[in-house]
Amino acid sequence: MSRRLIIGVTGASGAEYALRFLWRLSSLPGESDLIFSPNFFKVLSAEAGIEANTATLETIFNLIQERYGAPEKKHHFSLCDYRDIGSRAASGSARYDAMAVIPCSMKTAAAIAHGLSSNLIERAADVSLKEKRPLVLCPRETPLSSIHLKNLLTLSEAGATVMPLMPGYYHRPQQLSDLYDFMIDRVLTHLGFTERFIKPWQP
Ligand SMILES: Cc1cc2nc3c(=O)[nH]c(=O)nc-3n(C[C@H](O)[C@H](O)[C@H](O)COP(=O)(O)O)c2cc1C
Repeated sequence: MSRRLIIGVTGASGAEYALRFLWRLSSLPGESDLIFSPNFFKVLSAEAGIEANTATLETIFNLIQERYGAPEKKHHFSLCDYRDIGSRAASGSARYDAMAVIPCSMKTAAAIAHGLSSNLIERAADVSLKEKRPLVLCPRETPLSSIHLKNLLTLSEAGATVMPLMPGYYHRPQQLSDLYDFMIDRVLTHLGFTERFIKPWQP
């Protein structure tokens, strides 16, 4: 099924999750508005030694291609400016099926939980909650303080699906990408796709 999505990418650890997620999404029908926090590029540099200070679709998809091969072109991506709170993703009147934030920092989780909306990721998530659209948040932090836990509970009670980047191991991962795919498969399912990249568990 074709989906119209908003995808936020923040500066939590696990930058590779975002790249692999976009590679998988490119093989699925639909379109997405992409919003990158500048902190994502800082983390990408720390974790993968990749310097990509200018967020353009070309630089991002070149990175993805280098790592995972040519992305399929079934999904259309548009890049939005993180600071542009006038973008269509900031409006409740624009039609979207769902939003995901992967990875989601504790700072962004806190901001969404408290309705701060100080950038486009936070505003689009705030709008998703008020419009009762599915919002999938993939936090990454450990250990979690009481503040983090309370914020995540607030988000869950407000209607968000909180999916920490905690892959399972019962699919017997052989390489890192198998762990990424475990989470990505679950997130895509929650965004409404029926295609599966990981075989569902069968006892
Ligand atoms: C290398 C690196 C790793 C980080 N890992 C995490 C993390 O796992 N979880 C988290 O909540 N913040 C992490 N941070 C901190 C966030 O980047 C920071 O809180 C930032 O303000 C998040 O802003 P954003 O959500 O707007 O991207 C990390 C920062 C760096 C530089």
